[in-house]
Amino acid sequence: MEMTMTSQTAPSARFWDRIAKSYARKPVGDETAYQRKLAITQEYLRPDMELLELGCGTGSTALVHAPFVQRIHATDISENMLEIAREKAAAQGVRNVDFERASVEDFNAADGTYDMVLALSLLHLLEDEQAAIAKVHRLLKPDGLFVTSTVCLGGRMWWLRLIAPLGRALGQMPLVRFFTEEDLVEKLRAGGFEIERRWRPEKSIGVFIVARKAG
Ligand SMILES: C[S@@+](CC[C@H](N)C(=O)[O-])C[C@H]1O[C@@H](n2cnc3c(N)ncnc32)[C@H](O)[C@@H]1O
Repeated sequence: MEMTMTSQTAPSARFWDRIAKSYARKPVGDETAYQRKLAITQEYLRPDMELLELGCGTGSTALVHAPFVQRIHATDISENMLEIAREKAAAQGVRNVDFERASVEDFNAADGTYDMVLALSLLHLLEDEQAAIAKVHRLLKPDGLFVTSTVCLGGRMWWLRLIAPLGRALGQMPLVRFFTEEDLVEKLRAGGFEIERRWRPEKSIGVFIVARKAG
């Protein structure tokens, strides 16, 4: 089924479709930090868990976690990213991950469907991260977990903030939001989450957070 795009999400889909192949070829920036994030996440995984991944890209993380859970529904706005993800899943013989083209903004499922939601390198790319956090909260079961890794550009790279609108208009940059780590933590708390783990790898501008749906 063709996904409907809003005028806000269509440019993002075009950008990520265009760079999907080069993104897939690019090695992970900090392999040690990536492995630690995988390991922390896997501390929480159980064989009966249902996971949702938003903005799964080329599926690398979902395919690593797949053997430890029941099922992963992995979604992304970019069909080209998903095509690579499906090829990797087939090549690896992974059968419990399904990939669906869906924007965070349009994705929907029944309340309380998932045990864990992953959003890795994603929240800073959304028009409205607070709305995304609210959606994740609704989709999670009671005590469910939200695992995020987020670039926090607030208070840094002022020059990027200046050129970002032009870069986006020219299709050379994705939508990028500028918030601090503290802003993000506040947004998660305001959205009904308790921070369970919070880790900023050395020299990184990103923060890795495991948050639990409270109440
Ligand atoms: C920086 S990549 C991260 C991919 C993957 N999570 C990873 O860690 O490698 C951002 C991904 O988010 C997707 N994306 C961007 N905006 C989105 C949106 N509004 N809804 C869903 N996916 C989106 C892009 O297509 C891209 O695959």
